[in-house]
Amino acid sequence: MSTERGCSGDTADFPFPPREFGGPPEAYADRRGGCPLGPVMLPSGDEVLLATTYEDVREVHADARFTRNLRYPGAPRMLAGRDIPDDPHALVNMDPPEHTRLRRIVQSAFTPRRAEEWRPQIQTLADDLLDALASTSPPVDLMDAFAFPLPINIICRLLGVPAQDSPRFRMWSDVFLSTSTATAEERLKAGAEFAAYTDRLIAERREKPGSDLLDELINAHDAEDRLSEGELARMVRGLIIAGHETTGHVIGRGVLTLLRHRDQLAAVRREPDVLLRGAVEEILRTEVPGHGGLLRVATEDLTLPSGGAVSKGQAVLAPVVAANYDPQQFPNPDEFDIRRNAENRHLAFGHGPHYCLGANLARVEIQVAIHSLIERFPGLALAVPPDSLRWTTGSRICSLVALPVTW
Ligand code: HEM
Repeated sequence: MSTERGCSGDTADFPFPPREFGGPPEAYADRRGGCPLGPVMLPSGDEVLLATTYEDVREVHADARFTRNLRYPGAPRMLAGRDIPDDPHALVNMDPPEHTRLRRIVQSAFTPRRAEEWRPQIQTLADDLLDALASTSPPVDLMDAFAFPLPINIICRLLGVPAQDSPRFRMWSDVFLSTSTATAEERLKAGAEFAAYTDRLIAERREKPGSDLLDELINAHDAEDRLSEGELARMVRGLIIAGHETTGHVIGRGVLTLLRHRDQLAAVRREPDVLLRGAVEEILRTEVPGHGGLLRVATEDLTLPSGGAVSKGQAVLAPVVAANYDPQQFPNPDEFDIRRNAENRHLAFGHGPHYCLGANLARVEIQVAIHSLIERFPGLALAVPPDSLRWTTGSRICSLVALPVTW
């Protein structure tokens, strides 16, 4: 394994330990200086290249010479055993033209206009959750009471899936996202349970049709033959997990970050019309939990913008979090600054063909969540010392286990 910059030394184990408050690992900044595209050892034992500059990460996500098809003997894996890349029906594992065909079926449900149409419902739900919160006595865990219930209820409504099953969705997604706490068998078992659940759901809906996205997807299979049964079921599972997991974590981490930057919190409260959107973009730049971005394999020899060479068949991991802290792109990247605005071209939602399908919806959810919460609770504060907050370990994501707050 070599790169043009010739990174020497031992291959470090990935994932690297996060900084305080789940911040990006020091190693991203260290490597950017001398080894912007260098080898790392994944939990599976596979060695891959890690991209750390904004331009490289962007390129790896967008360049059609990288494939997401990792279903061949000896293909690199984040984890040993069966894992996300093994599923041939998942949108995120497909290359064009299959990817384009499948994405077309769902993308009209997630346009900026459709996301805006959801805003009143998101607002009503946020208000209801905050009413319930206000009627309890602090301290309360904001992750459980607000940050997760908001996106999970919205994706359930959008799909037409029973929101009362959301504790199970959270449990399954915890297992899928774990890099070390769950065994391969546990991941397999959770996958089988979730698959049985969605198969049942689809069968029931075929019996009693409705007018939700789930019905549109069923129709795309049954009446139009545009997606297979496997793709249909996988799409439903994928949307349930992707539709709540990251958004919930970003809301929780975003609230914590604002509580740690009280001057900026006060400014957003004073002038939400001017500052809220910029604050949410800055939260997205800094608070995506985990590295964000999946393994990709080069289908031919190529050179990335940093000068790093990638050989045909070599895998690259391009974390959007590394890109979002590149000082070449974001001056003083470690500074949380809600006024970056137009310069804030973060890659929180990825880039290129796999650009996050739910980005518009997630933006509206986070804007409503943050605005409603800070307006409703002017005395909002952490209920524990910041250094006693617990963060997830052994997971693809690094986020808050709980966010105890008072008001
Ligand atoms: C703050 C919240 C979110 C963040 C930071 C986020 C981030 C991302 C990123 C980085 C990717 C690209 C991964 C890659 O190419 O390697 C992605 C893809 C995806 N996201 Fe999101 N996401 C969020 C919310 C959502 C929501 C609410 C939904 C669904 C309603 C969603 C559905 C998807 C889907 C289906 C894909 C795969 C797209 C494809 O392969 O074409 N995401 N997301």
